Amino acid sequence: MFSNLISSTRGIPQNSDVPRHIAVVMDGNGRWARKRLMPRVAGHKRGLDTVRNVVRYCVEAGVGHLTLFAFSSENWRRPQEEVSFLMQLFMQALQDEVAKLHKNNIRLRVIGDLARFDDVLTSTIRQAEQLTAGNTALTLTIAANYGGRWDILNAMNRMLAANPDRHGGFAEEDLTPYLCLADVPEPDLFIRTGGEQRVSNFLLWQLAYTEFYFTDCLWPDFSKSEFEQAIRSYQRRERRFGRTSEQLVESIQNDKQE
Ligand code: IPE
Ligand code: IPE
Ligand code: MG
Repeated sequence: MFSNLISSTRGIPQNSDVPRHIAVVMDGNGRWARKRLMPRVAGHKRGLDTVRNVVRYCVEAGVGHLTLFAFSSENWRRPQEEVSFLMQLFMQALQDEVAKLHKNNIRLRVIGDLARFDDVLTSTIRQAEQLTAGNTALTLTIAANYGGRWDILNAMNRMLAANPDRHGGFAEEDLTPYLCLADVPEPDLFIRTGGEQRVSNFLLWQLAYTEFYFTDCLWPDFSKSEFEQAIRSYQRRERRFGRTSEQLVESIQNDKQE
């Protein structure tokens, strides 16, 4: 079904100078606010400004897909006031931004277990997705109540339900169509702001061969020059996908001759 999308473990994905897909763990909002003696939620508000900017940087750079980790399946463990604020902010952002996204030919999608969100939020999400479904400048995916383990388990359950008579022997290709982001290339670049160097249950399956970039910069401070620094770091990587450097040089030479 998605023949143009090569799995990084089943083939060698196309390598391009500009990442086709960037996945971001937007971390450090709380610390940004605390440093200024402000409540943590003020950091989330400022973080939304950074989201707007980063969407623009991606469109300008020709990045096709941007996936942002907005709320993890573990973030429900936060104080109730902070969780409610984040839900309200999400709802408000959808209401305020969707028309603008649509005007700019940006497709919006939300991944994660929406069952835990209230009905109004869920229907607002679905409407925004429908409105922007045909847009092609950038696919902006927001991961909300998303967890990498949930994604894999959810895909497994759906695969098993679709194949009630099969007992085992499933291949990667049987599972991947049921995973979130099955119809976009795997992330080329993973960015995490805020200084922590961990995945925090983000796209566990999809990050198999992604290049990682960590910065101490807090998300509300993530500027265009920080973004460009991340891209430059990515451009310096040698993406071998299991092969040797020598093989890589050879394949580049062959490509040039063709
Ligand atoms: C990331 O910022 C935003 C969410 C997880 C929603 P944090 O709120 O985790 O900020 P820090 O890590 O406490 O600074
Ligand atoms: C990861 O950040 C989740 C999001 C950015 C939405 P956290 O701040 O929740 O991660 P941990 O708890 O420090 O690993
Ligand atoms: Mg954090």
